[in-house]
Amino acid sequence: MTLNLVDAGAFEFSPENKKWAAEELKKYPDSYRQSCVMPYLHRAQEQNHGWVSIPIMEYIADLLDMAYIRVHEVASFYSMYNLKPVGKHVIEVCTTTPCWLRGSDDVAAACKKELGIGFGETTADGEFTLLEVECAGACVNAPVIAYKENYYEDLDEDTTTAFIKSIKAGKVVSCGPQNGRFKSCPKGRATTLKDFAPKELLKAQDSKGSDK
Ligand code: FES
Repeated sequence: MTLNLVDAGAFEFSPENKKWAAEELKKYPDSYRQSCVMPYLHRAQEQNHGWVSIPIMEYIADLLDMAYIRVHEVASFYSMYNLKPVGKHVIEVCTTTPCWLRGSDDVAAACKKELGIGFGETTADGEFTLLEVECAGACVNAPVIAYKENYYEDLDEDTTTAFIKSIKAGKVVSCGPQNGRFKSCPKGRATTLKDFAPKELLKAQDSKGSDK
């Protein structure tokens, strides 16, 4: 397996990230410096090819004068932190109730079929990791996949398969609704508050000739 494995031993921020870390810490009063743990974890994960190792958590604990276990508690609570090596492309499928009610089972099945792996697994070539996550906070556009800090929404089996195939082909997929819907507006023509409908929505609806 060719993962983005890096030395899981010693870790320190790159010179550029050290400068960033010093500036970031200035945003917090001295007595609340530990609140900087999340941005530090995020930046460290970026530097470490997508995952947070134990030495990273120890390094951040030292930087912020906090107990290592406190850093670990944060890193293990939020699904955006990966505690083991991940592939180049991390696909996060939300399966919490609103997404489930809107078909996340089909989305998950399409991902598993197209990638040949299950949740928590990485493809043999180290390209893809598939993760199951809790509510991504975009329930209004359920079901949702999070990928590279963007959301891909209103998915079904076909659009999910097309989404994965596009990533494999190195194509850029526009984020947001994948069913033609405009943001979180009604899929068809607005039926209420028409005077307040965004111009972009009306334009999008007109171009599709929707009569709903
Ligand atoms: S339940 Fe999936 S985004 Fe909220």
